[in-house]
Amino acid sequence: MYQTAFFASFASLVLGQQIGTYTAEKHPSMPMQVCTAPGSCTTENTEVVLDANWRWTHIIDGYTNCYSGTAWNATACPDGATCASNCAIDGADYSSTYGITTPSSGALKLQFVTKNDNGQNVGSRVYLMAGEDKYRMFNLLNKEFTFDVDVSKLPCGLNGAVYFSEMLEDGGLRQHEGNKAGAKYGTGYCDSQCPQDIKFIDGEANVEGWGGEGGDSGTGKYGICCAEMDIWEANMDATAYTPHVCKVGEPTRCEGVDCGAGDGERYESLCDKDGCDFNSFRLGDQEFYGPEKTVDTTKPFTIVTQFATDDGTDTGNLKSIHRFYVQDGQVIPNSETVVEGVDPTNFIDEKFCEQQKTAFGDNNYYGKLGGMAAMGKSLEKMVLVLSIWDDHAVSMNWLDSTFPADADPSKPGVARGRCDPEAGLPATVEAAHPDAYVVYSNIKFGAINSTFAAN
Ligand SMILES: *[C@@H]1O[C@H](CO)[C@@H](O)[C@H](O)[C@H]1NC(C)=O
Ligand SMILES: *[C@@H]1O[C@H](CO)[C@@H](O)[C@H](O)[C@H]1NC(C)=O
Repeated sequence: MYQTAFFASFASLVLGQQIGTYTAEKHPSMPMQVCTAPGSCTTENTEVVLDANWRWTHIIDGYTNCYSGTAWNATACPDGATCASNCAIDGADYSSTYGITTPSSGALKLQFVTKNDNGQNVGSRVYLMAGEDKYRMFNLLNKEFTFDVDVSKLPCGLNGAVYFSEMLEDGGLRQHEGNKAGAKYGTGYCDSQCPQDIKFIDGEANVEGWGGEGGDSGTGKYGICCAEMDIWEANMDATAYTPHVCKVGEPTRCEGVDCGAGDGERYESLCDKDGCDFNSFRLGDQEFYGPEKTVDTTKPFTIVTQFATDDGTDTGNLKSIHRFYVQDGQVIPNSETVVEGVDPTNFIDEKFCEQQKTAFGDNNYYGKLGGMAAMGKSLEKMVLVLSIWDDHAVSMNWLDSTFPADADPSKPGVARGRCDPEAGLPATVEAAHPDAYVVYSNIKFGAINSTFAAN
């Protein structure tokens, strides 16, 4: 993603890193398939867990919140470590509080706005688990990852995202003494934006310097950085897939310039926030993706992403990232680029990234931090993330509209989609489309060309 994913939970609720016991934590089941050849797949009983940031956090022996509005309770949370020992994260009521449901086996529906007893919940983020206590780890090299999506109720300004982050299998439980909740409660998130809106990092509350602006829920002094492979960031009108690399090979807490959030610091961050994106519209094919387009977003379809290595083995170097769509039984190859200075291509490799950055006048920080080879190292140990979010920083314009806002849309790389730049303002989209949702289903993973009929 381009900007920090905003999580909006209800103002009165928050998290901690002990375990609360008022609501039992029961993960929704989301089985996936592991394939060796088309039709040769076995089912794995995977499940999903809600990220810790959305959960109610209260003092360990009572109902008192450890955080409310955009402020920490100074009594319970005088500093990060004390706060983590005083506060507990509780179980989640997935359906009624967060609008997270499983309409059929292997399908997950994420509702944008969910009215509940506490007010409302906006957006959500869940992780795939291999059991109650561990994230399902993926080595994507020389493999393909496939799923179905329904974006027909996901308008401009929203982002239904399916991506991989280089998180720890146990959420940091073993590494960080202050974290007693682990993967079972969705702790340990990180991504390439080095998000600073994470309330607990490395087993400590992000209390220091915490402040919120506008409708935002706040940010603290620390961020948490790791590599990220965006398989799918999309709504009905726009889509992109994007590798993002980091200087660090595991989740790393940042502060100051390392987080890359200050003026002029974006390209000094531990991670490459822009990534090397493949957005069909931005790359010159405006008829490829959208309602009634080649990939018709009024109906469900399948997305296939392949990670090819230089020697065709699981231990080779990442060379290229390929994309296919399947809709109504037809395999649809990815769109071809039509950009002056970019050799026509329909996949991501080092050359494409270099040419695209030059053609659009963008900083190739992706290449500077190691490009495809660095991404490949991270792809060996990734956690799957599924989310729905709106964008308090730049209204999702980087995905589906004109960005930067003040740039000439006829300049190469500026127009990313048909959406009105105002459509993605959180207040606008939350009021106009509270009923928006995305459905992800039929996750398949396996050898190249094993999860779909590739012809
Ligand atoms: C803060 O927490 C303390 C207990 O640690 C509690 O007595 C107090 O009421 C809380 N304040 C708020 C505003 O919730
Ligand atoms: C996958 O299928 C495509 C299309 O049939 C083919 O071009 C490609 O070589 C196949 N890749 C592998 C690794 O089998």
